[in-house]
Amino acid sequence: MRAIFLCAQNLINMESPKVTKVTTHVLQEMKLHSVKISMLTAYDYSIAKILDNTGIDVILVGDSASNVMAGHKTTLPITLNDMIYHASSVTRAVERALVVVDLPFGTYQGNSKEALCSAIRIMKESAADTIKLEGGSEIIESVVRILSAGIPVMGHLGLTPQAINKFGTYKVRATDAEEAEKLVSDAHLLADTGCFALVLEKIPAKLAEKVTKEIKIPVIGIGAGSKVDGQVLVLHDMLGITQEFSPRFLRRYHNLNEEIKMAVENYIRDVKNVDFPNEKEQY
Ligand code: KIV
Repeated sequence: MRAIFLCAQNLINMESPKVTKVTTHVLQEMKLHSVKISMLTAYDYSIAKILDNTGIDVILVGDSASNVMAGHKTTLPITLNDMIYHASSVTRAVERALVVVDLPFGTYQGNSKEALCSAIRIMKESAADTIKLEGGSEIIESVVRILSAGIPVMGHLGLTPQAINKFGTYKVRATDAEEAEKLVSDAHLLADTGCFALVLEKIPAKLAEKVTKEIKIPVIGIGAGSKVDGQVLVLHDMLGITQEFSPRFLRRYHNLNEEIKMAVENYIRDVKNVDFPNEKEQY
């Protein structure tokens, strides 16, 4: 009876702002009780503060900062120092959400010692809660070593943008049996090794559903259908700040590009007409 009450209470708390800090344990409970997990990216203090006040569960300091913040064509050029700069700006703002930080390309694939050093730098210098890295069996030694230092790891399979030069395109992954089989086996490997959650990007919905049912850790999808434990989007894409990126899975919740443009055009007009500042806006 008491156990049932506690479960129900936890569930209510998870859906309300009563959870004062989202932890990896809270995410696990959410999966257990079929409470969907919401996750968005942030790269700076001001946006992270807005997101945290909404009750978002997870904030990802993604290496997509390489695209949306720095204007690079891929996620490859962003450095560990860049990620630490973005991550520490975000953690200064966040009190409630779990903060996950991407290990950038080239900082964990070489060897597990280097991977651990990179993860430790992120945790020490940015005060992040957890890290994320891309790949399955190829990087499992790095995952083991990072976990052994007490750093929670989120996995990422399917379309892994750091491997774009291998893939050659950003099209849907794991549509053939061989790649799908490897993805399922990698998902089990990451879960069994001790990752606390897994991102599945741009894969068939049926495959994502199968993985979500089979593994015990939460699965967060992006372009992976609705039968997963949660969803993640790049904030700049869902707010319509970025316009050039329009995959089928992206739902635009706003057209901020247009709104910013209109506001700035109004400002320019007011400055030119000496309409700004007015009497009340000066000393
Ligand atoms: O870098 C990023 O924003 C990501 C998400 C697309 C999951 O990895």
